[in-house]
Amino acid sequence: MTKIPPGVGPRFPQVVVLFGATGDLARRKLLPGLFHLSSAGFIPGCRIIGVSLDDLDIEGFRKAARGSLDEFSSRKVSEADWEAFANSLDYVPLAAGAGALKAAVVEAEQAFDGESRRLHYLSVPPSAALSAVRMLGEAELVDRSRIIMEKPFGTDLATAMSLNTKLHAVFDESQIFRIDHFLGKEPAQNILAFRFANGLFEPIWNRNFIDHVQIDVPETLGLGKRAGFYEQTGAFRDMVVTHLFQILAFMAMEPPTALEPSPISEEKNKVFRSMLPIEPADVVRGQYTGYRSEEGVGAESETETFIALKCAIDNWRWAGVPFYLRTGKRLAEGQRIISIAFREPPKSMFPAGSGVGAQGPDHLTFDLADASKMSLSFYGKRPGPGMRLDKLSLQFAMHDTGLIGDVLEAYERLILDAMRGDRTLFTTAEGIERLWQVSTTLLEAPPPVRFYAPGSWGPNAIHQLIAPRAWRLPFERTWRDPNRLGS
Ligand code: BG6
Repeated sequence: MTKIPPGVGPRFPQVVVLFGATGDLARRKLLPGLFHLSSAGFIPGCRIIGVSLDDLDIEGFRKAARGSLDEFSSRKVSEADWEAFANSLDYVPLAAGAGALKAAVVEAEQAFDGESRRLHYLSVPPSAALSAVRMLGEAELVDRSRIIMEKPFGTDLATAMSLNTKLHAVFDESQIFRIDHFLGKEPAQNILAFRFANGLFEPIWNRNFIDHVQIDVPETLGLGKRAGFYEQTGAFRDMVVTHLFQILAFMAMEPPTALEPSPISEEKNKVFRSMLPIEPADVVRGQYTGYRSEEGVGAESETETFIALKCAIDNWRWAGVPFYLRTGKRLAEGQRIISIAFREPPKSMFPAGSGVGAQGPDHLTFDLADASKMSLSFYGKRPGPGMRLDKLSLQFAMHDTGLIGDVLEAYERLILDAMRGDRTLFTTAEGIERLWQVSTTLLEAPPPVRFYAPGSWGPNAIHQLIAPRAWRLPFERTWRDPNRLGS
């Protein structure tokens, strides 16, 4: 069971209004996450009101919630915890309207002795999100509330700006929490700890020592039942504008003046402001063969299921350092890595054939899998006569600390932060709009999609994109198995 340090929970009890309560994300992540936060004691007394198009009563919703925990909770669900959680659930069908929603929220709040706060979670597509926002306005549920929005935050600059204007008509920017679950992953926050809590790497974290950076998030997953969503988005909008660019900002930003929301946002936004427009010539768009025959996909669909691109941050720290980003569906492996390649030594005195440089440059690698891992690879001498060099590595895995059970899942962490009003890991309207702005050249003239075989690493053109460098994945070595240490 997670141990709860003092002061990590919200100051006031919360009423959560969960729009899209029977949808995929709610079933997979949000209900299991809220259950864990409740049962572990992070959010005492929290009440949850589900809202969706489904015509359910409370019992029907409880049954659906139980089903989602049984299917998706990564932790054991005890009957006592379930009883308590089930009693905190209520349900209002969307068709019942603003008045019924307000009544349910007011009733939930009456269960609290003193002050409370509201958290509206909009786990719905963009068009439905705006009607939910209007409904909340109409129901007068804007005071004392915060609202979590799911991506996409627009599909280009114009739609993002229009969405923000409509949101701001009801909610103040300070109330809006745009969620990017990659930033809720423990290892993503560990980038900040690693960079700013240590003196070792910061002096070399710049163009003088770093040759290039790769952010590589291949997925083995296909579309599942998401063709409707995916056909409108594609890999660039689904993964790059949100997750990969956000991770890039953590990796590239200047030290903030304090580890607090505004200074961190400010530094991230400066990275986005320094990004050069994405040039279509620096982009490879791919589509796996067979995609066009998936249910719900057009026979001539040009939607990309894969994207690899080169981008640049034109500031004093990073000018001239290419950042290569790649992600896609139905690829050879599921990985999430940031790989930082250091410059090679200016001169090698090692004899020809010694192996120096043969396995690429030294790398620092962050693995963003839930069980955070890092490694630093370097050349070292192979034991025995002569001077033969091998690529060796120092590795750390969160598993080694024995604290792996304390890791909160990304959504749990972010819901808790939103309840506490902590915006550190959320994106701002300004940041999002700037990212759409740098993407405009690409969105206006996307290169044609190239086909790739499911189970591959994408279209062949990815090698030309990065040449003379090489993609770090697939790894030439495997992560050390912590269970075999010392053996
Ligand atoms: C989602 C995307 O935001 O992130 C999905 O919409 C993608 O297409 C998913 O599969 C990846 O998240 P994770 O946490 O599984 O790496």
